[in-house]
Amino acid sequence: MAETKIPYKIYLKENEIPTKWYNVRADMKNKPAPLLNPGTLKPMTAEELAPVFCEELIAQELNDTDAYIDIPEEIQDFYKMYRPSPLIRAYFLEKALDTPAKIYYKFEGNNTSGSHKLNSAIAQAYYAKKQGLKGVTTETGAGQWGTALSMACSYFDLDCKVYMVKVSYEQKPFRREVMRTYGASVTPSPSDTTQIGKKILAEHPGTTGSLGCAISEAVEVAVSTEGYRYVLGSVLNQVLLHQSVIGLEAKAALDKYGVKPDIIIGCAGGGSNLGGLIAPFMGEKLRGEADYRIVAVEPASCPSFTRGKFAYDFCDTGMVCPLAKMYTLGSGFIPSANHAGGLRYHGMSSTLSQLYHDGLMEATSVEQTAVFEAAEKFARVEGILPAPESSHAIRVAIDEALKCKETGEEKTILFGLTGTGYFDMVAYEKYNDGVMTDYIPTDEDLEKGFAGLPKVDL
Ligand SMILES: Cc1ncc(COP(=O)(O)O)c(C=O)c1O
Repeated sequence: MAETKIPYKIYLKENEIPTKWYNVRADMKNKPAPLLNPGTLKPMTAEELAPVFCEELIAQELNDTDAYIDIPEEIQDFYKMYRPSPLIRAYFLEKALDTPAKIYYKFEGNNTSGSHKLNSAIAQAYYAKKQGLKGVTTETGAGQWGTALSMACSYFDLDCKVYMVKVSYEQKPFRREVMRTYGASVTPSPSDTTQIGKKILAEHPGTTGSLGCAISEAVEVAVSTEGYRYVLGSVLNQVLLHQSVIGLEAKAALDKYGVKPDIIIGCAGGGSNLGGLIAPFMGEKLRGEADYRIVAVEPASCPSFTRGKFAYDFCDTGMVCPLAKMYTLGSGFIPSANHAGGLRYHGMSSTLSQLYHDGLMEATSVEQTAVFEAAEKFARVEGILPAPESSHAIRVAIDEALKCKETGEEKTILFGLTGTGYFDMVAYEKYNDGVMTDYIPTDEDLEKGFAGLPKVDL
């Protein structure tokens, strides 16, 4: 029986690490809407983006036509430190659930930063170095992106200034220390080191911060400091492009065994891991070569896809960034402080937003206590302590497997295990102590965010 031949871990060989990223936009009939200049409401040109972003990253951002983009050799070399990442057949989880479903997960937590974020961090640091820059600025929420970027910057000897959402800065002191160990400076956001930070602090004293605030601060510092540019760990097209390495490897590993997933599941914050995991599968779907059910999982406390509006919005709270058309809760939306994990961003990748709008993928939202229940079950049977963000995908993978148990269907489920949760023990502690609560924003809460959407009549 072919089935029993599938090993617990499917590793590719080093020479099977992809040498090109896959750009799903090339195969999309309806391209994601362009970034707009908030002043003119015209699509942002490369020249207009140049003070903020690195040149080659801008070219990738605006490239809707090339399906494959070469991964520079220096990045391929770095990838060899922690890639190919394993694709794991979750035999233990299947047994624990007593399900006929076959569950696979692609594990991206096997590097010091602890998540998939390193795949894009190293690419962005490489292009910044190649351009001769002194350093980069960024925001980080739960801290994985900041950690990944500090590792990447130290590898290429670049300065790295991280604005970290205040609630995480306080809850995750150890992640902050990892960043500092790699030479980054870490400032809690909102801070009084920027004009926009001061303004936000004056308007919302005591705020625990949001990714939108931290982005505004990081952009302000980048554009006002010579030799610096801003880099972002999610949402943008270029980040999804770099993350396609996840999906390309996962597909290559499954293809070796002739396995085709029925359902592909990923957590969605700004959309980078999900966009990366689904990229080659979505490509097949768009070209009419295969069909897959693709599910984005987001927190019920920050439900951009499931309760947001598909509209042009600011990417940041300070409204200094270009406008992106995406599913959004409004750039002023700040998730409730009891929300423990990442996935706190108010918007969603415009590529995924377009795919969702066109009915090519689904989205669902889950509450955090149910997420931690799934995380705990997974940790106990599969041996990996998952990040809270990744556990959103675990929750839905388990639910789908349990449905198979009821119906007897032997579906193949693939999900993205984006990272480990060792630095998220405050959240685990709350769960273990039984004091974790769920907060689902009311329609009234959401209306406040929607009221701040820019009026864009195109
Ligand atoms: C472990 C992990 N998974 C998932 C995410 C969500 O980000 P994205 O939607 O860009 O993949 C994050 C974001 O910080 C993360 O740290």
